[in-house]
Amino acid sequence: MSETPLPLVRTVADLRAQVRAWRAEGLRVGFVPTMGALHEGHLSLVRLALANADRAVASVFVNPTQFGPNEDFDAYPRGEQRDAELLAGAGCHLLYAPTVSEMYPEGYATKVTVARITEPLDGSARPGHFDGVSTVVTKLLLQCGPDVAVFGEKDFQQLQVIRRMVRDLDIPVEVLGAPTARADDGLALSSRNAYLSAAERAVAAKLNFTLRAAIAHLQAGHAVAAVETAAVAALDEAGFDRVDYVEVRDPEDLSRLGPGPLAGPARILAAAVIGRTRLIDNMAV
Ligand code: PAF
Repeated sequence: MSETPLPLVRTVADLRAQVRAWRAEGLRVGFVPTMGALHEGHLSLVRLALANADRAVASVFVNPTQFGPNEDFDAYPRGEQRDAELLAGAGCHLLYAPTVSEMYPEGYATKVTVARITEPLDGSARPGHFDGVSTVVTKLLLQCGPDVAVFGEKDFQQLQVIRRMVRDLDIPVEVLGAPTARADDGLALSSRNAYLSAAERAVAAKLNFTLRAAIAHLQAGHAVAAVETAAVAALDEAGFDRVDYVEVRDPEDLSRLGPGPLAGPARILAAAVIGRTRLIDNMAV
């Protein structure tokens, strides 16, 4: 870890002043929005930002509007000091950590809604979630004004929603997707993995195992509908308490594929709950 404290700003004005100063020097700015509780996956996003820009800004903001009333907003892990140290160690140049009132001041009344691509999968399992994400990401991009912004493929639907939104709203930024960082047994790294007990952690690894098995079946020409049904049954059998979905979809617009064998590229996406932890994962087919 770096010994140098990472410069920190909490206001839009201070963030813009720093980005303006870098721009005046002719430097390109990369941006990595996060909700903190950082892990190696986030740090790989910072490294990708730095490979595409001269300066990297990371934001840490646990966005209340993307959590449902019965979700884990209050429990979501927070630790700004540790996050700042990890970011500095990865070469990040600035941490933007706004307060809730800086992001949503008194009287705030605007929402960004992306249609269609937000409807299936996490859109139906977590009503309102993508409005919260789209709104805060629009604000973060307008606040920072980066040349490139990096998001993880781990949240694949989120990534495609953000790409759609940036195109639709002509937001002048290049969106980059970064591959999912995984533990040795395949479990996608996630801040929420911190909630897992040892027994739950063993079950959690079956999520990625099941996706890999499903991909092998799809590549062998099995029908999409049968593969999806078998994967849901495998996750039930593995010990998940609830399976929200395992679905094979178009990798761009996330429209439904199947029910027969695949004829082209696809993405398989899954969400399942164990104890109080909801896990998501996805892979290219
Ligand atoms: O992926 C996340 O951590 C969040 O959804 C994001 C993009 C930072 C918006 O709050």
